[in-house]
Amino acid sequence: MLLEKILDKYPQKEESLIEILLEFQTAKNNHLISNEEIKTIAEYLNLSEAKVCSVISFYTFFRVDQKGKHIIQVCQGVPCHVASDINVVKILEKELGIKVNETTENGQFTLQYTSCIGQCDQAPAMRIDDKTYTNLTLNKIKAILAEYRVYMQ
Ligand code: FES
Repeated sequence: MLLEKILDKYPQKEESLIEILLEFQTAKNNHLISNEEIKTIAEYLNLSEAKVCSVISFYTFFRVDQKGKHIIQVCQGVPCHVASDINVVKILEKELGIKVNETTENGQFTLQYTSCIGQCDQAPAMRIDDKTYTNLTLNKIKAILAEYRVYMQ
């Protein structure tokens, strides 16, 4: 398989990640990286899928499969983790009925990880498209999603 052939060429180190992603995306006909492929790359490099996803989200030239109308990016930076007594990703996964890097069936939302979005003093934070949301709580996340859902109707 194409991905396995590419992986064989690189040492199993984190430093190989960007080069693997670049070569694979270029070699792949549709230029999109699927969830399954992210998992394979993460396993090969002994990294978490969240780490691979955050690199993909950070560099705009990488693209994942199936993008929804709204892209929700949850900050995975250390300050956001430490400051948070809620699990933002778990809440969003439950509310949307999808996992990270998936898109809702209605095509409205894609959920992704991202690295620091520069709002550490108001952690936890996430971004939806170009808008940043901070000091997240369970109720705030629900209210934000409800706002977007109103505009869907
Ligand atoms: S670590 Fe989350 S905004 Fe900086």
